[in-house]
Parts: sequence; C-alpha cells; structure tokens
Amino acid sequence: MFDSFYRALYALGYTHPVHPALVSMPIGLVVGALVLALAAVVFKKSELAVSARHVMVVALVFAFIAAAAGVVDWMHFFHGVWLFPIKVKVGLASFLLVLLVLGVIFGGKVEPTSPVLVSIYVLSFFTVVGLGFFGANLVFGGRTPPLPKQYQAGEMVYRMNCSGCHPYGGNVIAPRKAVLGSDKLDHFKTFLDWIRSPRPPMAAFPKAVISDADAQELYQYAKNLHD
Ligand code: HEC
Repeated sequence: MFDSFYRALYALGYTHPVHPALVSMPIGLVVGALVLALAAVVFKKSELAVSARHVMVVALVFAFIAAAAGVVDWMHFFHGVWLFPIKVKVGLASFLLVLLVLGVIFGGKVEPTSPVLVSIYVLSFFTVVGLGFFGANLVFGGRTPPLPKQYQAGEMVYRMNCSGCHPYGGNVIAPRKAVLGSDKLDHFKTFLDWIRSPRPPMAAFPKAVISDADAQELYQYAKNLHD
C-alpha cells in the first residue's frame, strides 16, 4: 500500500526505514521533560513543572507520529512479520503512550513533587531507552552487504524486498535458512520458483512486485553475496 511512498523516497536517495529518522523527536522530548521535571523539584520552581508538562504534550504528539511511521516501516520492510523485537517495541510503545497521557493529565493536577508524577517522568525515560535499544537491534542487524557497482540494480531490489528478513544475506526468522550459501541460488529457475512461491512464513513475490528482469538482477546480486 505504501510502496509508492518508499519508491519516491528511494528516488531521492533515501533507502532507509522512516521511523528511525523520526524517533529522535519523542526520545529527545521525553528526556527534556524529565530534566525539567527534576529541575522543578530540585529548585522548587513551579514554572519549570509547567514547562515539563508542555514538553510532555509535544512528546505525545511526536510519539504518535513515530509509532505510525514504525508500523508503516514494519509492514514494508518486515512484511508485518511479528519478530521478537517488534513485539517488544509494540508493547513498550503502547506503554509509553499511556504514560505520556497520564503525565499530561497528572501534570495539570498535582504538585511538581508528587511521587506519582515524578515516577511517570522517570518511567517514560526508561521506556524510551528500552525502545531505542530494541530499535537498534532491528536496525543494526544490518541490511545489505556492499558489492561492486554492476550489482546495484539487484541490490536495490534486495533492499526493497528482502533485507528486512535477510539482513546481510542471513535470515532473522529462520537463522539456518540464510540466503548466503542457499542451494536455491544454484540456478536462476530454482531461485525464481522460490521467490514466486516460497515456503511460509517467507513472503511470496509475484511478477507485479518483482518482474522477471528484476529477479534476474536480484539473482546476480544474491549469488555474489559473501560474508
Ligand atoms: C517476511 C520475511 C521474508 C522476506 C521479506 C523474504 N524472506 Fe526469504 N526467507 C524467509 C524465511 C522465513 C525463510 C525460510 C523458509 C523455510 O522455512 O524454508 C526464507 C528462505 C529464503 C531462502 C532459502 C534459504 C534456504 O536455502 O532454505 C532464500 C534463497 C530466500 N529466502 C531469498 C529471499 C529473497 C531473494 C527475498 C526478497 C525477494 C526474500 N527471501 C524475502 C523470510 C523472508
């Protein structure tokens, strides 16, 4: 559904998921809110608590945007497969949204020194740290190994369709079924049959998604992958 969106980004030279670029916004804002909230307690200044709450409102807005981008990326790069870090991230992100809403509500009602309010700020902080950790797990799992220029067309097809589940030619779902060294690469015909109707949970790639010509480029790229 969002394929044309990612193709447009690729045309601009942007081949990465969108979520990591947006996610620094809520993370930075949650950290800022915590610093202001703690400063309000330490310096006994209620204006700082008001600022903390306002920052929390902005964090809430950006948390929604980043979460939505995360879902779209996940559908595109991971075909909506429930990898372990994805499950953790969805859980933590939901928890964060609840915390932020509570923070905004309580922040308008209780004293800045309220232990409940301070705990909400602190918990939000640790939740974004956890989200960052599992996000890095996904991203730094790596994507495509570099190869000479002649394989660029194939690399693009690989990035757009395969690298989510097969970063660096591996396999994040079934580690023993890596692309690297697979006998499905022995002949183009075997390879083509496989991507057209693979064994689930691998996604199938009909002609409309990867044409036979693109599959040929992809095959050359995949065949020449090495550690
Ligand atoms: C949604 C995740 C996902 C995507 C996307 C995906 N794969 Fe797979 N792939 C898998 C899984 C899971 C297996 C193992 C299937 C099985 O049980 O045999 C696999 C297996 C393979 C194998 C066979 C490994 C072996 O020898 O058994 C090859 C080759 C392969 N994929 C290539 C590709 C290519 C090329 C693309 C992109 C066009 C792609 N895959 C996209 C998940 C994925």
